[in-house]
Amino acid sequence: MARKIIIDTDPGQDDAVAILLALASPEELEVLGITAVAGNVPLALTSKNARIVCELAGNIDVPVFAGCEAPLRRRLVTAEHVHGKTGLDGVALPDPAMKLQPAHAVDFLIDALRAAPEGEITLCPLGPLTNIATAFTRAPDIVGRVREIVLMGGAYFEVGNITPAAEFNIYVDPEAAEIVFKSGVPLTVMPLDVTHKALVTKPRVEAFAALGTRVGEVVASWTRFFERFDLEKYGSEGAPLHDPTVIAWLLRPELFSGRHINVEIETASELTRGMTVADWWGVTDRAPNATFMGDIDAEAFFALLTQRLARL
Ligand code: RIB
Ligand code: CA
Repeated sequence: MARKIIIDTDPGQDDAVAILLALASPEELEVLGITAVAGNVPLALTSKNARIVCELAGNIDVPVFAGCEAPLRRRLVTAEHVHGKTGLDGVALPDPAMKLQPAHAVDFLIDALRAAPEGEITLCPLGPLTNIATAFTRAPDIVGRVREIVLMGGAYFEVGNITPAAEFNIYVDPEAAEIVFKSGVPLTVMPLDVTHKALVTKPRVEAFAALGTRVGEVVASWTRFFERFDLEKYGSEGAPLHDPTVIAWLLRPELFSGRHINVEIETASELTRGMTVADWWGVTDRAPNATFMGDIDAEAFFALLTQRLARL
């Protein structure tokens, strides 16, 4: 029986690859819906890009919802410097024909969790946690109905990518992250500590291109585009492919390792706003609330990703 998931996302090229991986894995994953949130680019673009990706995957049946256009209490910070003005720069893609669902993403999250049996739905946030936190605040009864949350966000050893202290998804809406990390929902976190080991090196980009499909060509173009930021910044041999690690964990958790630890979110200090204060060394008596990943079998991850993308 396929695991039922809802992907909450701010596409973003890496979000797009994560959505493609999920839609290419119907035996294991049933995508009940995709909820767009403001993040890498404004909501009007993330909700459009999510539909572009579904059409690229050849799946116009998955419902796409627009959610929150700004963080709970802060001004929106976007990341066009990484993802380009459209959020999916790197290749020109047609505007989507598929329509947005009329319901707000937060209402969809609430209704879907109330309608499903308890513990059936997994939430997969790939951007700022505004939609999830808003749903939990508006309908506290759904919190206990979530099977688990598997998210991309935060950092410990890798520290920040948008500030010296914070990773982008958490930085954009730290108050939302605090609500999610304190919710008590079982939490698996893919931080920069893992995603910075999932680098799209040249051979890996060439493997996407060598698929000889439109999807392979587009994914290769996307990864070539957004790696320029990381090469300049980190001097790495390729961009970190952040968000697909969430979907890959659902498919093959054995590719990852981490620790069940306490993770708290900095919301008070402007200097360290959005920092994930991860008690990796167990130096406090704070109760563990998250499985915080630290390592990945990158070769196997990219082999899985490439093999699944070949299906589309
Ligand atoms: O810091 C990386 C995260 O921020 C990824 O999810 C990327 O898509 C951006 O949302
Ligand atoms: Ca994202």
